[in-house]
Amino acid sequence: MRYPTEGPLRVALEGRALVLTLDRPERMNALSRELIRALGAAARAAATDDDVRAIVLTGAGDKAFCAGADLKERQGFTKDDVRAQLRLYRSELGALDRSPKPVVAAINGVALGGGLELALMCDLRVAAPTAQLALPETGLAIIPGAGGTQKLPRIVGEARAKEMILTGRRLSADEALGWGLVNRVAAPGQSAKDAALAMIEPILKGAPIAQAAALEAIDASFDADLATGMQLEMLAYERTLVSEDRDEALSAFAQKRAPDYRGR
Ligand code: COA
Repeated sequence: MRYPTEGPLRVALEGRALVLTLDRPERMNALSRELIRALGAAARAAATDDDVRAIVLTGAGDKAFCAGADLKERQGFTKDDVRAQLRLYRSELGALDRSPKPVVAAINGVALGGGLELALMCDLRVAAPTAQLALPETGLAIIPGAGGTQKLPRIVGEARAKEMILTGRRLSADEALGWGLVNRVAAPGQSAKDAALAMIEPILKGAPIAQAAALEAIDASFDADLATGMQLEMLAYERTLVSEDRDEALSAFAQKRAPDYRGR
């Protein structure tokens, strides 16, 4: 079986979207070691699954997307266990971060600490109107350890990232929208997952090679100087130029029909 069928991560293919549901509602969907590994495994399997055009990540229930590190599990950790956990975040959540498939977080409730960092690994974020987002780590005498200090300033800017990280203040969904931390807030009564699925409809119908190339080029822009980034864009463009989907786009346009992209 390509995806896990039991355990803390529920996996379901809904049309062309792979929906991953963090399923530990009794612990506010906190990130246990088992859950982190399951996320990495699912992301790796999805990367090579032609049936999957995008990934939606959400949490079970309506209270929490994810309350961050499993603080009960962590009570028994040695310092080396914590260091190993940080490496596990890099490798397993990193698999989602680096996924060639567009990944959208459907933030159905609180996204705290590692829970918000998990959402920051995603390409897009949609929040339920009741969602709350915060990085409370410095209040717990630690710092965000799953990329939060690096990714948050890139998304909301330095001043707002410092405010969130130093004060631990919880942002409402509307405030997060105003800060550009989420792309969209679901309508009242609409689930974050349904709002996410509606938003990514064009992605699900779109050209996968072009989407993956675009994501790679955009992500590279944060790691490289402009000249290197421009070079990387040219290399990524080349991948789309030789794809069958690119020919299909031109044919569909000439024939006044919708394109049928196959990811080839
Ligand atoms: N790890 C493990 N268990 C957690 C958890 C976490 N991060 N967050 C919540 N839980 C558990 C609670 O211990 C509680 O379990 P219990 O019923 O056995 O006592 C259950 O989930 C429900 O949480 P509770 O606090 O009763 O619900 P709430 O609605 O009042 O508050 C939160 C929910 C998420 C706001 C609150 O639990 C919280 O602040 N959790 C810590 C989040 C955090 O600081 N994460 C960052 C870690 S770096």
